[in-house]
Amino acid sequence: MNGKRILLIIGGGIAAYKSCELVRVLRRRGASVRCVVTKSGQKFVTPMTLAALSEDKVYTDLFDLKDEAEMGHIQLSRQADLLVVAPATADLMAKMAAGIADDLATTLLLATDKPVLVVPAMNVRMWDHPATRRNVATLRADGLTVLDPDEGPMACGEFGPGRLPEPEAIADAIATQLDPAAKPLTGKHALVTAGPTQEPIDPVRVIANRSSGLQGFAIAEALAKAGARVTLVAGPVSLPTPAGVNRINVETAAQMAAAVDQSLPADVAVMVAAVADWRVDAAPAKLKKEAGPPQLNWQKNPDILATLCASPQRPHLVIGFAAETEDAADQGAAKRLRKGCDWIVANNVSQDPMGGTQNRVHLIHADGTENWDRMDKAQVAQQLVQRISDAFCGN
Ligand code: CTP
Repeated sequence: MNGKRILLIIGGGIAAYKSCELVRVLRRRGASVRCVVTKSGQKFVTPMTLAALSEDKVYTDLFDLKDEAEMGHIQLSRQADLLVVAPATADLMAKMAAGIADDLATTLLLATDKPVLVVPAMNVRMWDHPATRRNVATLRADGLTVLDPDEGPMACGEFGPGRLPEPEAIADAIATQLDPAAKPLTGKHALVTAGPTQEPIDPVRVIANRSSGLQGFAIAEALAKAGARVTLVAGPVSLPTPAGVNRINVETAAQMAAAVDQSLPADVAVMVAAVADWRVDAAPAKLKKEAGPPQLNWQKNPDILATLCASPQRPHLVIGFAAETEDAADQGAAKRLRKGCDWIVANNVSQDPMGGTQNRVHLIHADGTENWDRMDKAQVAQQLVQRISDAFCGN
């Protein structure tokens, strides 16, 4: 991001301290940073700290006449290559969504003609509140990029989504935003399934599998870095949500099928999840040992990938995965035809147990099979996303 100019707007929240580190990270990467702090932001970080870190004047007041004479607020908002709001509080996003301009920060955000990246941080209940959900949806529909907050323990003692992502992750998102060439999938919606599903046997037991979710999450992350809007339908795994990815948590195959259906339309779908093929009629109360081995009444689960391929809303490019224990390439090729998807990524999980950090895959498409070298799952994801980008860019 050499020579890029970032206008960093700091809202009032405990996460504001991370903005100080963000200034350092961005400057280390070659950007210049000019800071605007809201009135409540100044309760958490001082303009003097930010001025020292940015080595620039810090702006706080809309009615600073000297600045209006030398540097109007319109000019301030347009001199930057990108506006970044971090932390963006629920209140600040509500004002942005409503077009309210009652202080310097909100006025700049309304006056700018530059792209805006919003990095929310707030209490989990505030993030989940329908009003905030509405405001985030409005901002995204208006063309702003709104990152999803990280999940974890919060300063208020609660746990859940709401934490400001780490400064390095915010800087990655900023770098992607600044370099359009690095975002070949801008404007595309990518739908990814990942992780295992869990089918209940009774209130305390489930049928599950060994999928770690690592490969699917890496693909979701790579798609987001390539500029796609990513919906990640995730089975039960404890992995953090990649920056900029919209995550829907599910447990069962039926819930995953419903979430996929509700997330359509999409331009590309990558179905990485290890979906349980079967479920059982779950007992309403815990099965007791004295009753002997349980009689499980098996029912077939929906095939999410095959259903998607046959759907009138079929994405332009549908990619399935095939985890096999023998003849991965042949089985994968047959599976591609059976399911009706465009590509299959097949791997042999007998030598490469689920949960490892590396993968050796075959990419199977209409023109044949490519055998890729063994590599980290993140590299498999990057290579696959490169191929997806090529498919959309006509290479
Ligand atoms: N899949 C799916 N819904 C299912 C089963 C599988 O969407 N109910 C998807 C997976 O996400 C993956 C692909 O189909 O992209 C292949 O999954 P796999 O379990 O290998 O295939 P199955 O159809 O279950 O075939 P088999 O178990 O006989 O190998």
